[in-house]
Amino acid sequence: MSKMEFSEDFDFENRIMDTSEIPEDTADGDNPLRPKSLDEYIGQDKAKENLKVFIEAAKIRGETLDHVLLYGPPGLGKTTLAGIIANEMGVSVRITSGPAIEKPGDLAALLTNLSDGDVLFIDEIHRLSRAVEEILYPSMEDFAIDIITGKGQMAASYHLPLPKFTLVGATTRAGQLTAPLRDRFGVVLRLELYTPEELAQIVIRSAGILGIKIEYDGAVEIASRSRGTPRIANRLLKRVRDFAQVMSDGIITADNARTALDKLEIDELGLDQNDRRMLKAIINFYNGGPVGLETLAAAIGEEAVTIEDVYEPYLLQIGFLSRTPRGRCITAKACEHLGCEFPKGTVNAVPTQLNLFNGDSNQS
Ligand code: ADE
Repeated sequence: MSKMEFSEDFDFENRIMDTSEIPEDTADGDNPLRPKSLDEYIGQDKAKENLKVFIEAAKIRGETLDHVLLYGPPGLGKTTLAGIIANEMGVSVRITSGPAIEKPGDLAALLTNLSDGDVLFIDEIHRLSRAVEEILYPSMEDFAIDIITGKGQMAASYHLPLPKFTLVGATTRAGQLTAPLRDRFGVVLRLELYTPEELAQIVIRSAGILGIKIEYDGAVEIASRSRGTPRIANRLLKRVRDFAQVMSDGIITADNARTALDKLEIDELGLDQNDRRMLKAIINFYNGGPVGLETLAAAIGEEAVTIEDVYEPYLLQIGFLSRTPRGRCITAKACEHLGCEFPKGTVNAVPTQLNLFNGDSNQS
């Protein structure tokens, strides 16, 4: 199931720390918290600086921007950046996703409806089918597609020129992109988890837009429990506001933010019950690891991709988990945080950040 769709077994209780987009994040499809320009966009300095140059250069030459691939964990602002790219280039953006483009004809319809210079944003681009990918290649390279109609003697081929467009592809799993697709992106940008300082700035900006009164220390408290993810920070801001309004005068302070987040069972580092359950499973069932991804997924009743995309990036970043060739291992730091004893014999490898281009997703 795509994360954008909702099934009856969607875990509403735990969604507050989920990094996938929910309707509340996008109110009426137009989220007022989304920055519209690079200057308004906080964080991702490296990606932003480079993007600024490429956009400026394309504008000076009067050309469309080269195709852009954005990769990194969910909730870091890939859709937001696609909108900003379109805004900065002065063009429109069409938003779709890999699973939504079922047939080559769906992609052809999208492409032929673009105007010159437009941005086509394809989220979860690693989930495009082979047949769709095949027609995406010439579209990206030559801005034309060949359509075959009919069969046998009635078959006819048409060469259809397309408007010049910029494809912005987004993925949490760059390692799953085929090499021919990856090679057709002129600009490849990796998005990193945000620092607590950057998230605090985002919380203050969002509070301003939503008319929420917040003290700096209150923003820092929310930021430090948001797992490096603006989508979570903005969601927590709204929930903490509820507590501040009911429990005090409505102004978010460090104190009432702490109380609210404790009530939501989000600890000082932003771990929720799901993180703790997974870490404790590694300690209690597998003696601290190593444990293979699929085995761990089965043990906690979670999908392997959810563990990789949602839980792991942050746990790796804060050094609570390490990935070894034989599987996941708990670290002494995680045990200390959880108040558990570090299991003897655990391989305490140096924690590594996810390398999405190395096909880590296949590592068990
Ligand atoms: N809201 C969500 N992400 C943001 C960002 N990177 N900068 C500013 N506001 C945001």
